[in-house]
Amino acid sequence: MKHTRLPKYIKPERYQLTIKPDLEKSVFEGEEVIYLTLEKSVSEIILHSKELKVSSVGFFHPLLTSPLKGEEPEYNIKTETISLSFPKKLPKGKGELRLKFKGILNNKMRGFYRSQYKHKNEIKHIATTQFEATDARQAFPCFDEPAKKAIFDVTLMIPKNLTAISNTVETSILEHQGGYKAVKFAPSPKMSTYLVAFIVGDFEFIEGKTKRGVVVRVFVTQGKKHQAKFALDTAVKVLDFYEKYFGINYPLPILDMIAIPDFSHGAMENWGAVTYRESALLVDEQNSSASNKQWVALVIAHELAHQWFGNLVTMEWWTDLWLNEGFASYIEYLAVDHIFPKWDIWTQFAYNDLGVALKLDALNSTHPIEVKVNHPDEIGEIFDEISYSKGASIIRMLAEYIGQDNFRKGLSAYLKKHAFANAETLNLWQAFEKVSKLPVRKIMQAWTSKGGYPVIKVVQKPTGLELHQTRFFSSPISKAKSQDKTLWSIPIGSLNLDTGKKSKFLLNEKYYHTTEYDSISPLKINAGESGFYRVDYPSQMLQALHKFIKNKQLPPIDRLGIIRDAFAMAESGNLPTEQVLNLVSRYKNETDYTVWVELTAGLQTLNNLLFGTPVYGRYKNFCQTLYINIVNKLGWQVNLAEAHTKSLLRSLILHSAGSFGHKPTITEAQKLFTRWMKSNQPVPANLRGVVYNLVAENGDTKEHKFLINKYISENLHEEKNRLGRALGQFRQQNLLKKTLKFALSPHVRIQDTAGLFNAVWANPFGKQLVFAFTKQNWKILLERYPSSGHMLSRFIKPMSYFSTKHQAIEVKKFFKTHRAPGAKRAVEQVLEKIYSNIAWYNRDIKNLQNEFFN
Ligand code: BES
Ligand code: ZN
Repeated sequence: MKHTRLPKYIKPERYQLTIKPDLEKSVFEGEEVIYLTLEKSVSEIILHSKELKVSSVGFFHPLLTSPLKGEEPEYNIKTETISLSFPKKLPKGKGELRLKFKGILNNKMRGFYRSQYKHKNEIKHIATTQFEATDARQAFPCFDEPAKKAIFDVTLMIPKNLTAISNTVETSILEHQGGYKAVKFAPSPKMSTYLVAFIVGDFEFIEGKTKRGVVVRVFVTQGKKHQAKFALDTAVKVLDFYEKYFGINYPLPILDMIAIPDFSHGAMENWGAVTYRESALLVDEQNSSASNKQWVALVIAHELAHQWFGNLVTMEWWTDLWLNEGFASYIEYLAVDHIFPKWDIWTQFAYNDLGVALKLDALNSTHPIEVKVNHPDEIGEIFDEISYSKGASIIRMLAEYIGQDNFRKGLSAYLKKHAFANAETLNLWQAFEKVSKLPVRKIMQAWTSKGGYPVIKVVQKPTGLELHQTRFFSSPISKAKSQDKTLWSIPIGSLNLDTGKKSKFLLNEKYYHTTEYDSISPLKINAGESGFYRVDYPSQMLQALHKFIKNKQLPPIDRLGIIRDAFAMAESGNLPTEQVLNLVSRYKNETDYTVWVELTAGLQTLNNLLFGTPVYGRYKNFCQTLYINIVNKLGWQVNLAEAHTKSLLRSLILHSAGSFGHKPTITEAQKLFTRWMKSNQPVPANLRGVVYNLVAENGDTKEHKFLINKYISENLHEEKNRLGRALGQFRQQNLLKKTLKFALSPHVRIQDTAGLFNAVWANPFGKQLVFAFTKQNWKILLERYPSSGHMLSRFIKPMSYFSTKHQAIEVKKFFKTHRAPGAKRAVEQVLEKIYSNIAWYNRDIKNLQNEFFN
């Protein structure tokens, strides 16, 4: 798709911006002076503007005594620009563009928008912004490209009783007529348009200070102040950590974090004014789960990392978006690990990011990390697992290869060199090369410029081992079609479990023969799961590892990697599924949280595939048996002082065991639920997810109604999400239909609808229903989630739960005749995945039926 970029010869330097929102009428008006330099004389200025009405255009430069009045602007809706023409040519040099404009505060959570909430039964409004990637142009005409950095002087005209927040500290408040006040903010650092923010509402806040004296404030709507403390404490520590780690001070005196009731993403790193969805910032000691608390910490660490990586140094163009998101997604773990060392967060990385990226990047319809994008729809589309999680994973691989110390030094040098400016991927590699003296650029080349990743096939030879690399495809159909001959530079680390010896080398060639390893010793390749690749072991070698899984001599992250790759090998046709289940049985005594997350995910995938087949009952029994030991070990008794990972483990295990049909677990869940329903005794926060879900899976109208009512009256967002997920777990079609209708009702925020839909998708009893419902309501979805938001794809991606040919055809047919702006790639990925599921099922179902479950 072609989309014009702005001309290079116009350079904005400073925006003087006054904005006056009307929260009641849901509109705003504004005025701006853009100080700019024309590098040549022009008769027309083109800049971005979307859904704005520009009412006055003037241009002023030192050679003129009065401003030159512009003609009526020409609106170009397709390119989201306006062209401003003038009666005379504008001379080369400095000038001032003066504009007045009007716009609407929309309800789409993009640009300048309105969020709504109730306080003491009164409806209240917030006006707030979400500009990334390309929506600053919806709030004020601007040169809306990341490399067009400028200084922003913001003034917000707001009703007297409200609070205004922007990127910097307020410098003055002047009373104005009509009950308004003008809040003026200090000049911003030189920054990109997508990082500008204004937020106006009735807020309360709490504040703290970092060691160096930066003030950190957390803003919430009335009555939620007590839920802000965890975020404040965490942010203060994170800021201290990054200042030291990067060796660069946070450049502003204040960092604000604001919880917004309606918010399309998790959070947004606006410089000095970071916005969050409530569930990503607020922690209620009584009612929040350990997992939500962890999520909050990770999100804060992510957004604050952007204050350096993204805000101080910004990608030149969206093609390098991964520099922002991949880095923040890696460094958030570093910060959280530093602050909460007992959370074992790096092991969780192996699932949350590495595992997720390996899954998506195994499709032919993936994309390279660095990808050409132009149109806003294309830009919106790459905020995906490739930019985030693959980005984070290859950075982790590199960091481990060049060493943590070199890594930190390289980063720091890069940030200093490009501060208040823009950079490309190459600049970062150069910085690492300089400190490490290693050929970073060469090593990283294929990882960022090519889609996909290698699988290492281990071949036993009389003289030792051979390691072969080829691109991995989760679908044998895609593999058969592919001509891909990419060779990656793969840092390979291994651990010999007999000797404890670790070795490392770089595999650059198609294959490598080594006599160092013999074919009998138990060898874990990709030790520590630090590389972005999978390993395909011969079954003899895999068997040699069984003992070390069972006795847990292998570290948790390696136990995780082995089972994850085994499932992937089954999916891709390299390993019979029975053998994976055989391997799964070795994990009966497993105690590590993240290993269980991985195991459970693998078993859930099979659950989805085997649902409704003759072996399904036996499969569920098999799974139940697997969880028995750990269920008994953990029990239901919550100890307030117990380890964080133990709380996480308990909810995971009880939920899984119950879902696979373990009766005593279901009964206990029902008991706790009844106590809540009948005697108003709430379930302990960490057990709520388990209890609600299991009760719903086995429940009926009464429970459904109760959950709906709770959802409506609940005030804590996190709790609403839990209730919403449970609403998707019922088995009765009429109840699931009610859930879906409810998801589109005014009781569910537009941001949360997809969560309820997804819960129904993940429920084998609900897939067909939610698909039909999605198709029926497509028009409404398109209207609610307009193009270039990645929100629409959240309704498409779960279609990959499908696993029959008929379903594949239905999906294809639907998207032939229906638009999916900003989600084209998601549709391709879903189809590839469904066909892969079909192939998997056809390949292995017979053996499972006749041999494993006979
Ligand atoms: N910069 C993003 C927010 C964003 C995402 C803007 C997509 C525009 C399009 C922010 O830093 C981010 O990545 N937020 C994540 C949470 C994070 C912890 C992974 C999000 O919102 O999901
Ligand atoms: Zn981010």
